[in-house]
Amino acid sequence: MFKKIDHIEIVTDELHRTIDFYNDVLGFKLRERQRVDRSGLGVPMDIVYMDLNGTVIELMSYDGASPDPAPEREHLGYRMMALEVEDMQKAADYLFAKGIKIIWGPKESPKGIRAEICDPNGNHIELRQWFECAQKKDNCPRDSDIGGNGIGLPEKFYEVLRHEGLVALASIGNDGQHLVNTWNSYVQVTDDERLLLPVGRMNKTEKNVVKNDQVLLTLGAREVTGMRGAPGTGFLIRGTAEFLSAGRDFDTVKTKFPWARAALRVTIGNITQTL
Ligand SMILES: Cc1cc2nc3c(=O)[nH]c(=O)nc-3n(C[C@H](O)[C@H](O)[C@H](O)COP(=O)(O)O)c2cc1C
Repeated sequence: MFKKIDHIEIVTDELHRTIDFYNDVLGFKLRERQRVDRSGLGVPMDIVYMDLNGTVIELMSYDGASPDPAPEREHLGYRMMALEVEDMQKAADYLFAKGIKIIWGPKESPKGIRAEICDPNGNHIELRQWFECAQKKDNCPRDSDIGGNGIGLPEKFYEVLRHEGLVALASIGNDGQHLVNTWNSYVQVTDDERLLLPVGRMNKTEKNVVKNDQVLLTLGAREVTGMRGAPGTGFLIRGTAEFLSAGRDFDTVKTKFPWARAALRVTIGNITQTL
């Protein structure tokens, strides 16, 4: 009798930005436009259907009427839509390059990885990558098998930090990506497994991070054996960054590096061994 979810309706007062976002960023194709002379609110309205591999959203925009703003706090009822992605790492790299902020995650669980972004109206959109074990309904590992807080920095990572090497940290600003460096030996790990980097300059990075706190970080060490016995290993970390000029984490950095003007703290969303 009931076949499937046919479409999801989104009311917007930013129709063109919303169309651009769903089209340019998420790949929805414009399927149909309608102009209604007199909507339920008594004013004309535009309706735009957009399609992503058979799932459809209907964007609705009223001329000359101001619907109530979306609730900001957790509320009963409809919450968000979720888009499945093949590879969260690739999706996050793509969004990073497009300047789209991941506002939550990526967070890994035994069955998959979740993250959240926002559309121009502030509607949250979940991104979800399912692991093969979840799709095949196999036995996925339990949370406890992949480390306490769902991230659980691997011992290999600590081993890398004990050897010298170059750390690269990428942020994104209005003029594109920006890279800075520090040394493995300069990175300190807090009790809750956040990374602290000493900030001497990093002025541009700080400006970027104020606008978009998403950062990528790579580090490695030739002396530590990698996957399948590779001579050397390294990690790609995706996280959020903040600059601190006071507090416990700042003091930790300042004690070891008196020249530091601030501490750059990275909260890890996702860590991948790449070699
Ligand atoms: C090997 C290496 C290590 C570095 N270590 C630091 C560091 O620990 N802290 C720092 O602020 N800048 C460090 N720098 C300089 C930064 O990479 C960066 O160029 C500088 O801080 C300016 O950053 P900005 O372009 O964001 O303003 C290092 C550079 C190199 C090449």
